Amino acid sequence: MTYLPISQTVKSLLAALAFALLSSVALANEGGELIAPSGANVDDQQSLQRGAKYFVNYCMSCHNLKYMRYSRLAADLDLSEQQVMDALNPGGNKFGETMTVAMAPADAALWFGKAPPDLSLTTRYREGGADWVYSYLKSFYVDPKRPSGWNNLVFPSASMPHVLWELQGTQAAVYDTVSAKNAEGELLQTQKFSHFELIKPGKLDAKAYDQVARDIATFLEYVGEPAVFQRKDVGWKVILFLAFFTFITWLLKKEYWSDVH
Ligand code: HEC
Repeated sequence: MTYLPISQTVKSLLAALAFALLSSVALANEGGELIAPSGANVDDQQSLQRGAKYFVNYCMSCHNLKYMRYSRLAADLDLSEQQVMDALNPGGNKFGETMTVAMAPADAALWFGKAPPDLSLTTRYREGGADWVYSYLKSFYVDPKRPSGWNNLVFPSASMPHVLWELQGTQAAVYDTVSAKNAEGELLQTQKFSHFELIKPGKLDAKAYDQVARDIATFLEYVGEPAVFQRKDVGWKVILFLAFFTFITWLLKKEYWSDVH
């Protein structure tokens, strides 16, 4: 008789676990279909270098990378000091300084209603990381109701204008009307996003623009963890050392026990 309460506890624990798992799956799906895989790969040096260039040309007038040093960027992206200072440093910062520009946050807040945030850690805290950034850059659409004239599907009502519109072109969001009954049996009509429609082509076709978005996402992925290359490099050495050490320990054990038998 005493085991009954225990098995009931186990049952309710299992039920709670199952519920938690199911609800986390449901949460992950909500809006998740908007985030597309970016294919960002920090080991792709050329993508990283292009991403850095796009970032400096199109983003750095508003966004800082306050944890990213020029000297480190040069070393990790295989660029010389000269290349970095000439091509990636519009603010004329020193080589040992971070990638910051002098747009005073107060000015920016006045112009955009919100100060553009530092993007050093965006790929770390946004769920989806590089995929989020990639999808965000692909999801701007015209919306006359917004002060900037732009809205974003991944980040609704974002106060950032679509700074890459000349490359991507101008797209509109097309919605489907979906009818569904609510709990009381009333018929409700809701708007569900269907697809984007290109209303004015940009300089690039869709594939080329995707690559630009991917390059920027790759660059921000790297900026989120500049130690990524060292981590990978140290990682396999540690594994190798452990494997070797395990072998030595096994030899030692054999040696010790050989006297016993
Ligand atoms: C004209 C100024 C401006 C430029 C240029 C600009 N942004 Fe922004 N950006 C903003 C503002 C303002 C926000 C804040 C949006 C909000 O919170 O409503 C923002 C937000 C973001 C965010 C979301 C950060 C977060 O997690 O909340 C990302 C990512 C971003 N920008 C990326 C970029 C990239 C990449 C570029 C270059 C291709 C760029 N931005 C160029 C003004 C700008």
